[in-house]
Amino acid sequence: MDKIVIEGGHRLEGKIRINGAKNAALPIMAACLLLHGPSRIKGIPNIVDIRTQIRILENLGGEIQHLEDGSLEIIFRDGENKEKITAPYDLVRKMRASVCVLGPLLSKRGKAKVSYPGGCVIGQRPIDLHLKGLKALGSDIETTEGYVIASASRLKGTRISLKGQYGTTVLGTSNVMSAAVLAEGTTIIDDAACEPEVQDLAHFLNKAGARISGIGSNTLTIEGVKELHGVDYEIIPDRIEAGTFMIAGAITKGEIIMENVRNDHLTATIEKLREIGVEITTNGKHTTVKSNNKYRPADITTTPYPGLPTDMQAQFMALLCTVPGKSVITEKIFPDRFIHSAELRRMGADIQVNVPCATINGTPSLSGTHVMVSDLRAGAGLVLAGLVAKGTTHIHRIYHLDRGYEQIEKRLSQLGANITRVKE
Ligand code: EPU
Repeated sequence: MDKIVIEGGHRLEGKIRINGAKNAALPIMAACLLLHGPSRIKGIPNIVDIRTQIRILENLGGEIQHLEDGSLEIIFRDGENKEKITAPYDLVRKMRASVCVLGPLLSKRGKAKVSYPGGCVIGQRPIDLHLKGLKALGSDIETTEGYVIASASRLKGTRISLKGQYGTTVLGTSNVMSAAVLAEGTTIIDDAACEPEVQDLAHFLNKAGARISGIGSNTLTIEGVKELHGVDYEIIPDRIEAGTFMIAGAITKGEIIMENVRNDHLTATIEKLREIGVEITTNGKHTTVKSNNKYRPADITTTPYPGLPTDMQAQFMALLCTVPGKSVITEKIFPDRFIHSAELRRMGADIQVNVPCATINGTPSLSGTHVMVSDLRAGAGLVLAGLVAKGTTHIHRIYHLDRGYEQIEKRLSQLGANITRVKE
């Protein structure tokens, strides 16, 4: 196993290009199951979750190739793979997002057998809303031996609400929308997620011949079509990676110029950083994060898009731990997603957690020590804290980070961080 070692205290400066969005790429790759003919998708990041998704799709008969221009070509041959309907436990346990093959498989092959994804350290993560939506479209669903088995001869359009206890569901919306595009008649999804990654999937499907309207709103209308064709498509930039690098610039009081950023997808993150005192400017092509100011503490609440993303919560926590004064974080999506606070405390942070809130009394300096990553974004928060901590921070279990950030240590060291990956 590898670990990351950081000598804190180096100001970050320079240019960085943001990769395509992991959470857009995963369901779009799964949606290729629905298409007739090859698709070439640009901007897919080279990270472990994508490699897991490739294995899942190959297992389902997908032919997947890396092309010279960096795009991924994905082909499913109709008729040849009808009996391949299983996403096995071994692969699904590695990545909960693999559940996004459920809707496309059911729709295209009439049956899907997908290992029931378990909970994880960020929370319970049930899939009841996914199943409710697929049932409403006319499928039979049973759960046996840890697998969800869904079947239907032809799905039928209907009106469905995907509202749950914590708002709507991102991957649930993707699953139901993907299933509905080839259904008979019209489907209306109320309380749909409108995250940019869901919008990207809808744009991809429309380019392939689907008829989805209301994209970007909480009501999606999908008129079923008979067939979809392969397309060339470019994935949106990763707003969470961009937000993470913004905080890397902010926490080190550096200056980072970022390329391939959709600021319109980052409105809540940028507004909150500005409230804290971080300067963020854009000239249309580049976004610059610059930070000479004294920072202010802030109160943060994570909510569905266009609110502040839960996937930025750990990174904001790291930043606020270094800002003197009291900040409060309220986590409205995954109320238990605070495991990183215990590791930040080991670095000298003063954080009290009272679910779903964390109260931070910022201290001017954290100190390096050994810390452990519990999930992808927790890992990002610990790396950010390590960049400013006094002394050396050793970050263990970084396989979580590799799931979602491509070569994070290389890219941060190009910006001036003293960070290396070493074998344990
Ligand atoms: N929920 C239910 N029932 C369901 C589905 C979800 O109650 O059937 C609850 C969840 O327990 C949670 C809330 O609804 O409290 C939102 O969960 P959601 O389904 O939206 O999460 P997800 O689709 O499984 C995606 C991202 C996550 C991100 C969340 C929230 C992907 C691959 N994953 O997960 O990203 O945190 O949306 O925005 O798109 C990450 O990238 O690190 C990550 C965890």
